[in-house]
Amino acid sequence: MAEAMKGLHRSHRCTEVSVNDAGSTVTVMGWVQKQRNKGGIIFVDLRDRSGILQIIFEESDCGAENFAKAEKLRSEFVIAVVGKVEKRAGAVNENLATGQIEVRAEQLRILSESETPPFPIEADSKTKEELRLKYRYLDLRRPDLQRNIMLRSRIVAGIRKFMTEEGFLEIETPILGKSTPEGARDYLVPSRVHPGTFYGLPQSPQLFKQLLMCSGYDRYFQIAKCFRDEDLRADRQPEFTQVDMELSFVDVDDVIDVNERLLQYVCKEAIGLDVQLPIPRMTWKEAMERYGSDKPDTRFGMELVNVSDAVAGCGFGVFTAALENGGSVRGINAKGQASMPRKKIDALVDFAKGYGAKGLAYLGIQQDGSYKSSFAKFMTQEQLDGLVKAMDGQPGDLLFFAADKNNIVYSVLGALRLEVGEQMGIIDHDAFHFLWVTEFPLLEWSEDENRFVAVHHPFTMMMDEDLQYLDSDPGRVRAKAYDIVLNGVELGGGSVRIYQNEIQEKMFEILGFEKEDAHSRFGFLLDAFQYGVPPHAGLAYGLDRLVMLLVKADSIREVMAFPKVKDASCLLTGAPDVVDVVQMKELHLSSDVEEQEV
Ligand code: AMO
Ligand code: AMP
Repeated sequence: MAEAMKGLHRSHRCTEVSVNDAGSTVTVMGWVQKQRNKGGIIFVDLRDRSGILQIIFEESDCGAENFAKAEKLRSEFVIAVVGKVEKRAGAVNENLATGQIEVRAEQLRILSESETPPFPIEADSKTKEELRLKYRYLDLRRPDLQRNIMLRSRIVAGIRKFMTEEGFLEIETPILGKSTPEGARDYLVPSRVHPGTFYGLPQSPQLFKQLLMCSGYDRYFQIAKCFRDEDLRADRQPEFTQVDMELSFVDVDDVIDVNERLLQYVCKEAIGLDVQLPIPRMTWKEAMERYGSDKPDTRFGMELVNVSDAVAGCGFGVFTAALENGGSVRGINAKGQASMPRKKIDALVDFAKGYGAKGLAYLGIQQDGSYKSSFAKFMTQEQLDGLVKAMDGQPGDLLFFAADKNNIVYSVLGALRLEVGEQMGIIDHDAFHFLWVTEFPLLEWSEDENRFVAVHHPFTMMMDEDLQYLDSDPGRVRAKAYDIVLNGVELGGGSVRIYQNEIQEKMFEILGFEKEDAHSRFGFLLDAFQYGVPPHAGLAYGLDRLVMLLVKADSIREVMAFPKVKDASCLLTGAPDVVDVVQMKELHLSSDVEEQEV
């Protein structure tokens, strides 16, 4: 083992060896996937990041010493083999890229040995995710993770190539910045030199990229690490990567144009997917009305229908009360589901309640045209017929209705549509539906904070025609903001920015920031705007989400090398962890958490 790499040079990765190499000598290195000892002949599946290659050991070729070493091989030993490529004498393995060949070993060097791994290194692992993450370095050897991580690298390379050719400059912005929480919580880093002060880790490079526009770099991009201390989900991590960009002298259509071409290029490069341009666009209002979501999954129909008119004045108090309170009644039609068992319907009612519904009304249309419904007794036959007609209900259909304030109705039916669509199996999981959602509202009222908050962020410009309502009716002002959605996932978002100080100040005022507070947090941006600022706009993608969707993974954890779990900890390294008292002192910190009993 002391020889290590002496005299050895890898000539090929495993699957780079092909039938064309038959007869030549190769040097390959990797991990033992499997060793099968058939008496006088030993087969070894050798694995590296490219795939698997079969090696054959026979004493007559490799000599007694090497053969004895081959007998000792076990899974995950790291070895180097020098041998001759030959066409397989036995059956060709159609499942392997190298299935037509094998390497007849002449030399074997064991580079390192391995304990038995805690789980098998193979695709489609059934191993619990916790164990996989604890031994992530082993998990990362599995072929499906290797494929994801390698594709991620290809995607990043493609993005860099495209952006550079389009005249974008890759510029890094600081990780140690100023805490400007808006949206998620910041991660903080205590300063040793300035007692009692903290850096904030960036939630995005937003302010720096705007400053770069002020500095004349006119087209910037960055593959940027971002940090947000928020509740984690399948598509959210505390640290994640954005493909971030900003452009000067542009409006909405210019940003959309370059990004459509970027997506087309990357999808083709990465997975051979042809994205048809232009990508469809939908206003936020239309998205909410038709899909109950600002990130509609347009791979299937089952759109929301507003039946408020059809139920106005009916005898069902739940419906009429919602209308009287300024809300609406809307429904979805689950085609052919009238015979759904009661238990399943009840589960959907509970599901709806999880999204804030007080209940979920339903009506099944039997084959004979009669109705089975949770509210039929409150309505006349005529009213029911009118409602069914409004929903385009046919015999065999099952209709669901939500009655409430619009935002609740949307969130309930938007989620229910996805759930029922999934249960019905009508979502084409091979399809890629891109969609731009435009004209987002600028502001939304936060009941918790009792103030308006920015839907995108405070630097987003209003639509020209809505500027007039900024004082009188801020809630109705639409923004020059856009999201790019893929299969119902928000892939990225951006906006045209405010670049006029008076509008920016007004925006801070509407958001309820005290003038001094706004200046202490963002004064440097306002100052920069006083020295000649170009109109500018930008966008950022979640790179992890893009890769997740392109490789059809269920979670961004499957496309990140070292992800964190739900409580934001790293099972591999044990971060976050307590630190030494001396380190705390240096940072002028003390903790009010009782020291844990060891
Ligand atoms: P936004 O906050 O919409 O915009 O973020 C852009 C994209 O980043 C991804 N993303 C995340 N991915 C994984 N984990 C997270 N916790 C997470 N949070 C966000 C999403 C999202 O669409 N500065 C603006 C962009 C701009 O205006 O140019 C911004 O950060 O895919
Ligand atoms: P109730 O009279 O409360 O038993 O409700 C009759 C039916 O209306 C039940 O199926 C409830 O689930 C449903 N329901 C109650 N509240 C709502 C609501 N806000 N929207 C839609 N359906 C509701």
